Amino acid sequence: MATIISNRRVAEGIYVIHAAGRFEAKAGQFFMVRGWESYPLLSRPLSVYDQNEHGVKFLYKVAGEGTERLSRMRAGEELTLLGPLGNGFPAAEGRTALVGGGIGIAPLFYTARHLEQADLYLGYSVEVYEEQEFRSIGHPVTINCGGRVLDGIDFDEYDTIFVCGPEPMLRAAQLKSNLSSGRAHVYLSLENRMACGIGACLVCSVGCEQGRKKACSEGPVFRAEEVVLA
Ligand SMILES: Cc1cc2nc3c(=O)[nH]c(=O)nc-3n(C[C@H](O)[C@H](O)[C@H](O)COP(=O)(O)OP(=O)(O)OC[C@H]3O[C@@H](n4cnc5c(N)ncnc54)[C@H](O)[C@@H]3O)c2cc1C
Ligand code: FES
Repeated sequence: MATIISNRRVAEGIYVIHAAGRFEAKAGQFFMVRGWESYPLLSRPLSVYDQNEHGVKFLYKVAGEGTERLSRMRAGEELTLLGPLGNGFPAAEGRTALVGGGIGIAPLFYTARHLEQADLYLGYSVEVYEEQEFRSIGHPVTINCGGRVLDGIDFDEYDTIFVCGPEPMLRAAQLKSNLSSGRAHVYLSLENRMACGIGACLVCSVGCEQGRKKACSEGPVFRAEEVVLA
């Protein structure tokens, strides 16, 4: 159990929940999170937004019943956290871009904090949030609100690119990667539906070059060229 330190609304339907405890997550990993006893049955996967000696933070969007319940929780209440889970992002080499679309910006904050250099590209559909937090890291930040964040990025300028966002954006990143010179190693962080989060149920199965893989235990980060997006 992890006691909630705060749960603050940062935009319409968007919250940052901070839970106490000592965790050792790598950038790009996630936890299965729940703030209830038996219903809903499943915990919800949330990426590590930030982590320090006091606890772990999750940036989340209210999407349905589970995240709506989370949004109503208060400081002092208890979360159940399973994790850290998943492979996380690999070590970034050379010039690096971190690209997030919508709530897909969540895993990029902690990732950026641990990189000496990175260009951050953050895409929002309606309302910009957590901009000052991202800018406080000290890396260049490009904000795109209402457009397509990928359009402004030349993949050939980078050696490593991490992308997290909705599936159409991941497909666009894959296409851009295919059409580029191949200089950049492009990695996609998938947000497949999950149930167990630990490789036991196959709900999160994703088509890959060498057959199907489990997004929870063999992902959620995959090389752009290995994963087959629907
Ligand atoms: C590895 C990973 C990391 C994620 N990180 C974040 C994050 O940092 N912030 C954030 O806001 N969201 C994140 N998501 C998406 C988030 O898990 C879903 O929005 C959430 O589970 C929806 O639950 P709900 O009960 O509110 O909605 P419901 O639609 O009621 O959920 C019903 C069921 O579907 C599953 N589900 C629904 N949508 C998704 C989805 N997009 N991805 C995975 N499972 C889904 C739920 O786990 C649940 O089992 C992540 C998903 C994955 C797989
Ligand atoms: S969510 Fe059960 S195997 Fe991945």
